[in-house]
Amino acid sequence: MKTQELNDLQTLVSLAKRRGFVFQSSEVYGGINACWDYGPLGVELKLNVKKLWWKSMTSRNDIVGIDAAILMHPKVWKASGHVDGFTDPMVDCKECKYRFRPDKVEDPSQCPSCGSKNLSEPRNFNLMFKTFMGPLEDSSSTVYLRPETAQGIFVNFENVQTSMRKKIPFGIAQIGKSFRNEITPGNFIFRTREFEQMEMQYFVKPGSDDEHMEEWKQRRRNFYLNMGFKEERLRFHQHGPDELAHYAKDAFDVEYKFPMGWEELEGIHNRTDFDLKAHQQMSGKSLEYFEEASKEKYIPYVIETAAGCDRLVLAALCDAYREEITTDEKGKEDKRVVLGFHPQLAPVKLAFLPLSKKEPLASLAMQLRNDFAAEDWICQYDESGSIGKRYRRQDEIGTPLCVTIDFDSLEDKCVTVRHRDSMQQDRVSIDGLEAYVRDKLKNF
Ligand code: GAP
Repeated sequence: MKTQELNDLQTLVSLAKRRGFVFQSSEVYGGINACWDYGPLGVELKLNVKKLWWKSMTSRNDIVGIDAAILMHPKVWKASGHVDGFTDPMVDCKECKYRFRPDKVEDPSQCPSCGSKNLSEPRNFNLMFKTFMGPLEDSSSTVYLRPETAQGIFVNFENVQTSMRKKIPFGIAQIGKSFRNEITPGNFIFRTREFEQMEMQYFVKPGSDDEHMEEWKQRRRNFYLNMGFKEERLRFHQHGPDELAHYAKDAFDVEYKFPMGWEELEGIHNRTDFDLKAHQQMSGKSLEYFEEASKEKYIPYVIETAAGCDRLVLAALCDAYREEITTDEKGKEDKRVVLGFHPQLAPVKLAFLPLSKKEPLASLAMQLRNDFAAEDWICQYDESGSIGKRYRRQDEIGTPLCVTIDFDSLEDKCVTVRHRDSMQQDRVSIDGLEAYVRDKLKNF
């Protein structure tokens, strides 16, 4: 048997649409550029990514969560530096009207679309989406869609610290939508203008920041490994001086090897006291922390871990995808497409398949499906097509276990459990099925 990993994104885009993971937004109107909708399986996969991340953060005694509003006081973005500094250079081709980032193309002196050298001067383009609050559409009512979730955490630092009586070091975690008017979005759900972030800001005593940075790097690497990501497809990239964001003293990207190459999954940044200091100055409200033990007052430093949820979903899909190709004695090839998700990520955990649509098999299978779904497992019921075809459909969406109910099940009160990866089958009593499934999903 030959195993083929994913080598082009288009294969995944087709599978994602065919099997209900991700659809193009507003497709009936011809779609809207770089906007995507999560379908029934995509939303489950994304929820699983978020649940794992949330648990990895908030199960710690030193991290609590919040959910801040997307719309914030416009002064937040002035203080944070986004109004003045959150820009990308942009060049327009005067011939074909293509717009591009000169710092992202091989030869910035010619248009990457038509090759013309008739180009505009580079202009700085602010990536924040603007809108108006209330009925007046003028500059006094301008608000921004947040370009990062982090600022909702910084402006709530004191609220959280005092209400939860947290001592430094401690962290605040948040999952939520962010918006950036990217000049060149693309690569499916990799770079979009509306996306979800999973950010955690860890507040530390100045001077201990380098040590905490190192610890968070290791924790975040382990998070991806525990999710089942292939080690050889993960690496760190340290930012050089010209790559550092305006707020960062040091920064590492966790990179994943996508079909289009190594790209950023998550940023781990030492933001120093930049943000709290800036908000203290702009708001006039003290954001200093008083340390009981040393009787010292200081503005904490921040180590930030900033992951993109949609990018993690894309990486999870890429990592899981494989084609198994077998050839029979006559030379005929057969291809099995499998999404080999870690069971924690798999959108559907169990599929219940009656061997025949006939009663009472169908009702028994549906009853079992409902009982297991009530135990918080996402379950499917499928009675159409040959059993082989039904297994293949489940393999393609990454369901770890299929439960087949056959005519013998009525007599011996047993079912057949078929494993996605090995395709092995076990006969298991219905009474013992729950314990069996629990064990298999835990020790996959
Ligand atoms: N608070 C820091 C911050 O936002 P960032 O490196 O700009 O840092 C963090 O963003 C993560 O958010 C990125 O590593 C990426 O996973 C995700 N992200 C950023 N821009 C994105 C976009 N346009 N589409 C999808 N994900 C994006």
